[in-house]
Amino acid sequence: MTSQEIREKFLKYFKDRGHTIVPSSLLLPENDSSVLLTTAGMQQFKPYYTGEKDAVRDFGARQTVSVQKCFRTSDIDETGDQSHLTFFEMLGNFSFGGYFKKEAIEYAWKFITEEMKISSDRCYVSVFEGDGEVPEDSESITVWKELGIAGDKIQKRGREDNFWGPTGNEGPCGPTSEIYVDGVEIWNLVFNQYYCRPDKTLEPLKQNGIDTGMGLERLTMIVQDAPTIFETDLFLPIIQSIPHRDIENETRAVRIIADHARASAFLVADGVFPSNVGAGYILRRLLRRAIRYGKIMNFDKNFLIPLSEKVVEMYKKQYPELAAKREDILTVVQKEEEKFSGALEKGSKELEKILAEKSDKIISGDDAFKIYESYGFPMELTREIAAEKGFAVDESGWESAFKKHQEISRAGVEKKFGGHGVNEQTLKSEIHNSKEIKQIARLHTATHLLHQAIHDVLGHEAEVRQMGSDITPDRLRFDFSFPRRLTPEEMKKIENIVNEKITLDLPVYSAKMSKEDAIRMGARAFFKEKYPDEVNVYSIGDPDLSKAYSKELCGGPHIARTGEIGRFKIIKEESSSAGVRRMKAIVE
Ligand code: SER
Repeated sequence: MTSQEIREKFLKYFKDRGHTIVPSSLLLPENDSSVLLTTAGMQQFKPYYTGEKDAVRDFGARQTVSVQKCFRTSDIDETGDQSHLTFFEMLGNFSFGGYFKKEAIEYAWKFITEEMKISSDRCYVSVFEGDGEVPEDSESITVWKELGIAGDKIQKRGREDNFWGPTGNEGPCGPTSEIYVDGVEIWNLVFNQYYCRPDKTLEPLKQNGIDTGMGLERLTMIVQDAPTIFETDLFLPIIQSIPHRDIENETRAVRIIADHARASAFLVADGVFPSNVGAGYILRRLLRRAIRYGKIMNFDKNFLIPLSEKVVEMYKKQYPELAAKREDILTVVQKEEEKFSGALEKGSKELEKILAEKSDKIISGDDAFKIYESYGFPMELTREIAAEKGFAVDESGWESAFKKHQEISRAGVEKKFGGHGVNEQTLKSEIHNSKEIKQIARLHTATHLLHQAIHDVLGHEAEVRQMGSDITPDRLRFDFSFPRRLTPEEMKKIENIVNEKITLDLPVYSAKMSKEDAIRMGARAFFKEKYPDEVNVYSIGDPDLSKAYSKELCGGPHIARTGEIGRFKIIKEESSSAGVRRMKAIVE
């Protein structure tokens, strides 16, 4: 049975039992700030458990089923073994105030044994044993027994193993029952009975809910009788295209590369770009880790590109967003490799030097910070390299080095804006101020891209004119004429265009010319400003104004390439005055 047949069988099985098929949500959660990335199928359904939203109204049923794209950073260190991944697909069925434990367990058991034809001899299950707060799940034990599972195959376990949720700080949660095949956890059935408040107290939900999750890769491994998830049809073509010998170190390296290449492609397709914060940092960490393993394996520069292409080829039928974002994926991979390759070599040498000098086998916080700041080594990578050589990082030293740096940065900002008590920090503030200037330049170039992107998306409907612009080190503000509120789709489109131009790392040019020529060539000018006869024009993408993406009369300053901007994010769109919209955006 192919993995695609498994996906289809799962959806059909639950559809036949009254579930509405709901597409996967994005890996970047749209309405849930409690987590950076989507880690579970239930996330998009959170408001249906609490009763905030009505499933019958939105889905025509109290039950849904999905194949959800998920990402878990918590499993990054285990990736490379038999069954752990960072990105995976989760098969799940959900009920919001509809059926509860009995049906959920029966559905799951019949799917495993009858549809997937996995022998019950290979299975055992677990249930919640109870504690001072939540009682033993005797109801589930009874249902399993009725299905013919012997008592010794029903294991009772505590909170650690058999209680799930919430995602993030608060949300639905409850006891679970899990199905294991050949000792591998395949399916987690969560019985949502409680709402966990931010102070961690549990409050009974008004309606019971079901949230199940089964890793497609693990199920496929069992069904296809593969020794690991990497030998299933979800991975084999990728693994086989990476030359390696069948020895432990190489097998692990290749699996990590395959996982990270696949995960990165899916992240980029859902709008994540490498950066130093948030989801962008996770993507950067994955790519840089994969690049490092590629270097260890002596692979050619750009080895990740054909692998990313392979991922797109393999998955584009089920996930058309990969095909749509193919160019973005390949560009991101290429640029990140360009950025990191040189630094990896220099940073590794520096790290080797540090390691050679230390007899206590501990890397100091300051040294770890230096590697992080000078070479863009994600901290986890320093930790990993250190561990391979039997070293540890002084974690509290690293934390205080990091905090010291943050305080210096803050002091610099306060100084500029009239803060007090920063005299001793003057020198360091100066350094920071040069960073501020750079930040303003990044936002300024982003403003030019935004201006053009607004024209691209809205220009056909009404005349769009710049009505104002204001930049602080924290954000840009751009006012423009437009008669109505923008739709979320339009905002997303504009944001995506700007990010696409950033990913392409376009060069920024500056040239002097007569005002007349500049206007004739279509350079944008701000009508409120009086320009001299000779003007300066900034163009992005090409020095030839007729080919450039953006061109504006402007005195600068700007950065040299759009890639320096980082990730662009619109944070607000509002009315500024009649017929004028105001947008605020940040770069990360
Ligand atoms: N939310 C549970 C999990 O992620 C079941 O879907 O394991």
